[in-house]
Amino acid sequence: MDNIEKAIRKIRNGVFVVTYVLDGKEYGITSAWVNRASFKPNMLTVSIGKNRKGYEELLDSEVFCINILGNEHLEVARHFGGSDGDNLNDFKDIVFKEGESGSPILKESVAAIECRLVKKVDAGDHVVLFGEVMDGVDNEGEAMVFNREDFPS
Ligand SMILES: Cc1cc2nc3c(=O)[nH]c(=O)nc-3n(C[C@H](O)[C@H](O)[C@H](O)COP(=O)(O)O)c2cc1C
Repeated sequence: MDNIEKAIRKIRNGVFVVTYVLDGKEYGITSAWVNRASFKPNMLTVSIGKNRKGYEELLDSEVFCINILGNEHLEVARHFGGSDGDNLNDFKDIVFKEGESGSPILKESVAAIECRLVKKVDAGDHVVLFGEVMDGVDNEGEAMVFNREDFPS
């Protein structure tokens, strides 16, 4: 690993599951590259790999929910973060309710923020999605900090 990569890896991120629905099918993608982009209006960004399964569906659904995970939610993060995208639509053991946007709000989350997709910006091999915040739920608990060792490939 070169020094640039070593330096970049010192940026701290949380761990999130971005959920959405298209044609009655629920989707979930574990994401670490989530940030706040604006205060007024409240906007968040999510960076999604262009080749990710479910990426096109995310754009088409136009709304999504950023579920913020806590330390006790590692299994959920792993479930929706597998390298082959197999569990993208697998919600059979996942407890959730439908949010205002229709997106799944996971019971296993410390907070959830529903967004409307308002802009997308090309960023190399990823696309940065800007979501304007529609609604938010705050549950008890501390947010998880992304640690690469928790996700052996
Ligand atoms: C902790 C963690 C963080 C991740 N963060 C992102 C992310 O920010 N953006 C992204 O596109 N994929 C991210 N991924 C990868 C996706 O969750 C998932 O592995 C991918 O969608 C699998 O489908 P694929 O086979 O199409 O790559 C992350 C995975 C893990 C485990």
